[in-house]
Amino acid sequence: MTDPAPARPPVHVAAIMDGNGRWARRRNLPRTEGHTEGEENLARLVRVAVTRDIGWLTVFGFSTENWVRPRTEVRHILGLHRKLFGRVAELNDLNVRIQWMGRPFDSPDARTPKYVQRAIRKAIADTAQNTGMVLTVAFDYGSHAEMVWAARHAARSEGAVTPASLGAHLYLPELPPVDVLVRTSGELRISNFMLWQSAGAEIYFTDCAWPDFDAGELDAALALVRP
Ligand code: IPE
Ligand code: IPE
Ligand code: MG
Repeated sequence: MTDPAPARPPVHVAAIMDGNGRWARRRNLPRTEGHTEGEENLARLVRVAVTRDIGWLTVFGFSTENWVRPRTEVRHILGLHRKLFGRVAELNDLNVRIQWMGRPFDSPDARTPKYVQRAIRKAIADTAQNTGMVLTVAFDYGSHAEMVWAARHAARSEGAVTPASLGAHLYLPELPPVDVLVRTSGELRISNFMLWQSAGAEIYFTDCAWPDFDAGELDAALALVRP
């Protein structure tokens, strides 16, 4: 009898979910409809991701730079994050643990409003027992803010800042390095997302807008790390 193939370690996929606005514009819909469909697609993609060997799925939901968008759009996106973090029953069915990363709620420059904070805290607590895929949503997140935070804390506790000490003070130090970084909608930019964690990542750029990013697209991204 031949030995079974050795188990491959689960992959960390990170996605910059871009192109919601353009997806809507192409359909003569308001931008907000694109965001609504983008959130629905994330829920669909999580159901696909758990059937692949993905251990961590990290998605960019809203950046530290995105607050300058029109107030109505920002309000709509905030509501969608409350909805996303409210999907606890679905996440529990899938054995998915949800996490959040962004400017810590008690830091002076943090902007996550209280009602979204509450949804985040509740979802984290209510899915904490799940042992399957870890879904991390980056909201009010920017890599520069994260690295400044990490460097400050590393200097305070260890003195000399090293790659190891800085890495240990990131928002979620337990997140493994990103294996494949996805950016949708044809932009060839990283836009201040996980600069530290993606140092060695493969990058999957696709013209597909986020609301259309499906199983076939995910598999094409995974093929970069699992040929
Ligand atoms: C991504 O879609 C969602 C967020 C950045 C919050 P966009 O809203 O950036 O969509 P485009 O780039 O205008 O098409
Ligand atoms: C990046 O998309 C941020 C998120 C997907 C949340 P943007 O649409 O904000 O990025 P830029 O401004 O085109 O770089
Ligand atoms: Mg965009």
